[in-house]
Amino acid sequence: MPHPAAVFGRRARSKVRLPDFPWDLLAQYKEKASQHPYGLVDLSVGTPVDPVPAVVQQALAAAADSPGYPLTWGTPRLRDAAAGWLARRLGVLVDPSAVLPVIGTKELVAQLPGQLGLGPGDRVWVPTPAYPTYEVGALLARCEPVYGPADGVALVWLNSPSNPTGRCLGIDEMRAVVAWARERGAIVASDECYIELGWESRAVSVLHPDVCGGSHEGLLAVHSLSKRSNLAGYRAGFVTGDPALVRELLELRKHAGLMLPDPVQAAMTAALADDMHVADQRARYVNRRTVLGAALAVAGFTIEHSEAGLYLWATRGEDAWATVDALASVGVLVAPGTFYGEAGRHHVRVALTAPDAQVATVPERMAMLPPPRQSGPPTGGLRTGGYAYPPAGQASPANQQQQQQPGHSGAFGSGSPGPVPASGRGYGAPGSGPPRPGYAQPGQPAGYGQRGYPDQGYPDQGRSAFDQRADGQQPGNQQPGNRQASPVFDNIAGLADTYGNPSAPDPTWPAEPPDIR
Ligand SMILES: Cc1ncc(COP(=O)(O)O)c(C=O)c1O
Repeated sequence: MPHPAAVFGRRARSKVRLPDFPWDLLAQYKEKASQHPYGLVDLSVGTPVDPVPAVVQQALAAAADSPGYPLTWGTPRLRDAAAGWLARRLGVLVDPSAVLPVIGTKELVAQLPGQLGLGPGDRVWVPTPAYPTYEVGALLARCEPVYGPADGVALVWLNSPSNPTGRCLGIDEMRAVVAWARERGAIVASDECYIELGWESRAVSVLHPDVCGGSHEGLLAVHSLSKRSNLAGYRAGFVTGDPALVRELLELRKHAGLMLPDPVQAAMTAALADDMHVADQRARYVNRRTVLGAALAVAGFTIEHSEAGLYLWATRGEDAWATVDALASVGVLVAPGTFYGEAGRHHVRVALTAPDAQVATVPERMAMLPPPRQSGPPTGGLRTGGYAYPPAGQASPANQQQQQQPGHSGAFGSGSPGPVPASGRGYGAPGSGPPRPGYAQPGQPAGYGQRGYPDQGYPDQGRSAFDQRADGQQPGNQQPGNRQASPVFDNIAGLADTYGNPSAPDPTWPAEPPDIR
C-alpha cells in the first residue's frame, strides 16, 4: 500500500522541534570503549547499579495484588511518609495533602510548564549548564527557555545540587531567586533530586523556612527516589510545596491518568520511611568518588564543584568530545559537558554509578590515557549562557548576561557569581587561568552551598593547600593537563578527607542517624 504522503502529497508532522536526544550521540564512543580488553566502565548515565533495598523490594512484592486503579494523589500512607521524610531529613514542614506522587520526576520536569498552563509568550528560566529536560519541558509547552532573569519569566527552575556540576546553591542565592520570582508572580520549581547526596556541601530545599520565609506560596519542590534509593527502575518521585499549585496539578493529572502504580506507591512509602539504606548507598558513593576523583586528578584533570550529587565535573582544558574520545580509548565512557549546555564544552561528567569492581580498574586505565589535544571549537551543545541570579527587586533584561563583563562584581556583590557572559562562562567553564589538576574547591566548609567560586571570570580566591599539595607547584606555575606534573599519590589520605562527609555537623541540618559519618 502506498504511503499516505505519496497519495496526498504532504506528510503530517509533529510541530514540536526538540534538540537531538543527546545520549544517541554517545553510541559510537560506547562501542569504542566496549572494545577495550579490560571491558567497558560506563560512567556516562547516572543510572544506579546497586541493589534495590530489601525493605523496598519486600514492600513492592507485598503490594503485588493490586487489581484496582491507584489514586493519582497517592495513598495517605505514602503522603505521610513523604511529609515525614521532608521534616526529618530536610527540615521542611508540609501538610501531607500537599504531596503528589509523580511517575519518576523526569516526567514532571518535562511537562511542568504545560501542566501549569504556560504556553507561547511565557518564558522559563532554566539553569545552564543543566539537566536538559528543563529546556525540553519549556519547548514542549511552546514556551521560550531563557538562561537568566528576564521579563516574562513565568517559571524558574532551580537545581541544587546541580546535575551536572554538583554545585550547591547558597542559601542567599536561593532566597534572592524566590524574592525575584515572587515580585513577578513567577513560580519557582526546585529540582532536589540529589539533595541527600551532599559530600563537602549540602543543599537546602527551597521549602526550608530559611529560604522561603515560612511560606510555600509560588514554590514547588521536586523529589526523586531514583538516586537516593536506587529506584530509577520503579519510576518514583513526588512534588510538593504550594498547596494551591499542588491541587491544580492533581486535578490535571487525574484527568490525564498520570498515576503511580499501587505496588510502586507501597515501595516508595517504605523507601521514604527508611534512612539506613541511604546511609549504605552514600558510603558506596563516597568510596567510588574517592577512587575516581584520585584517578582523574592523577591523570591531570581538574575537578570543579562536585561537592554534592552523583557526578564529578572534570576538565583537562580540551574540547569535551576529545576527552570523551580519549577516555573511550581506555574503555571508560563519560558524558560530554555539552550535553548540559555550551558552558560545558570543555568538561565531562563522570557518574559514580559503576560497580566497585569496574571502578577499581579506572586508576590503571588512566595511566594509559592519551594526552590532551589542543582545545578546539565545541562540537556539540544546546545553548549558550550562564545561570545568573538577580538580587531581590532587580529586573534584568534577558540579555544581561551578554552585557556583563568578566571581573565585574556579581549581582550579589563580592564573592557571589553574577550574570555570566555568553562566551560560555557557565558553571564549571574553565576560568581565565590554565586548568589545575585536583579539586577546584577543596576544603570548602560544610553547610549550605557556596557563595561564589573563582571559575566564572571573577578574581581567583587563591589556591588551597590541597591544590598546592596535589600538584607540588606554586600558584601561577601550573602545567595545564600535564599528567606527569601531578604527583598526588601520597595525598590520597587528604583526598579521602576532602571526600568524606563534613566532620562538623551543620546545626541547620537535621541530625543524621549515627551510621552516617
Ligand atoms: C537533575 C535531575 N532531575 C531529574 C531527574 C529525573 O530523575 P527521575 O525521572 O529518575 O526521577 C534526573 C535524572 O538523572 C536529574 O539528574
